[in-house]
Amino acid sequence: MIRFNKPYLFGQELENVKRAVIEGRLAGNGDFTKACHSYFQDRYGFEKVLLTTSCTDALEMCALLLDIKEGDEVIMPSYTFVSTANAFALRGAKIVFADSNSEHPNISIESIKECITKRTKTIVAVHYGGAACDMDALSELCNNHKISLVEDAAQAIESLYNGKPLGSFGDCATFSFHETKNVVSGEGGLLVVNNECSAARAEIIWEKGTNRTAFFRGEIDKYGWVDLGSSFLPSELIAAYLYGQLENLEAIQEGRLIRWNRYYENLTELAFAGSFELPMLPTYATNNAHIFYIVCNSATDRIELIEFLKNKGIGAVFHYLSLHKSAFFEGKHDGRDLPNADRFSECLVRLPLHLHLKTQEIDFICQCLTDFYNK
Ligand SMILES: Cc1ncc(COP(=O)(O)O)c(C=O)c1O
Repeated sequence: MIRFNKPYLFGQELENVKRAVIEGRLAGNGDFTKACHSYFQDRYGFEKVLLTTSCTDALEMCALLLDIKEGDEVIMPSYTFVSTANAFALRGAKIVFADSNSEHPNISIESIKECITKRTKTIVAVHYGGAACDMDALSELCNNHKISLVEDAAQAIESLYNGKPLGSFGDCATFSFHETKNVVSGEGGLLVVNNECSAARAEIIWEKGTNRTAFFRGEIDKYGWVDLGSSFLPSELIAAYLYGQLENLEAIQEGRLIRWNRYYENLTELAFAGSFELPMLPTYATNNAHIFYIVCNSATDRIELIEFLKNKGIGAVFHYLSLHKSAFFEGKHDGRDLPNADRFSECLVRLPLHLHLKTQEIDFICQCLTDFYNK
């Protein structure tokens, strides 16, 4: 079986975990957490970062940081993971789903414009497959309407928008290190805070609503409950593992890009013949090779293709299901059609992409696609 995903172990991860265990410092915010924080700050120029137990948690922190309350409207793409919406729904926000672009799953600026009202508090931009949303257009929209901007960059590590790292545009941004991502720690995430006023508060929310982080830095002589919060910080074991992956980030990216390009080259002819669409990358975006996907011509095509590949021992999978049509949101949506989100929900297929994947396996997968479309 060619697995859809298989986490890659470099070895340093285990060495680091062993060191953390032997040093006997296992709770959060220890040396490995600090090393990860410095890494992200140095590499991407982020001012304030905090490791979290997941991207879901980082998104929940964003909702707390932005003081999202009952009645606030939060606009986001329908074509996204449930956590993007849940984090804001948990605070009582009204979720307003926008459509995707026709040629790319990222949120459509035109669709957002139709959703803005005087109650709109926040827009959440999801960088699908690591490809940047149109950040200039989003920033302009947010400035003009005094709306805050969150980047759900769960899949977007190492990606740039016009040369600037994703995660540096929103008031806050979130990344994921779930085992399916480019850099993994099993479960894990990162919060980036770009708004200076919120940075101190983010530390408090991170540590159960207490000022314990300032206490550990020796800035105050006792700590206590000062705000809302939860236990959002991961243990040192997670941070130690993650740091081992970060030490190999260049190799991870190089390996993924080689595989992504091999798929693209192998499949160009079929796409040209109209069998399916290949991923499209906007000119302002770079490719972090997070996902290799194709968009089938119909829902039936996709079902048959996934089944065909499964019978050949290939783990190909669909992705998000439009949230405006989800069981939870049924009855809450205002009835607008979101045809592009629906098309990606029904027709997008992700092919295996991980560092264990051999060139011959990619060629075999592409041959199977050729057989399927020529049958
Ligand atoms: C766009 C998006 N946001 C958030 C998440 C949640 O990430 P995590 O599993 O780290 O909580 C995911 C998960 O894949 C995602 O795709």
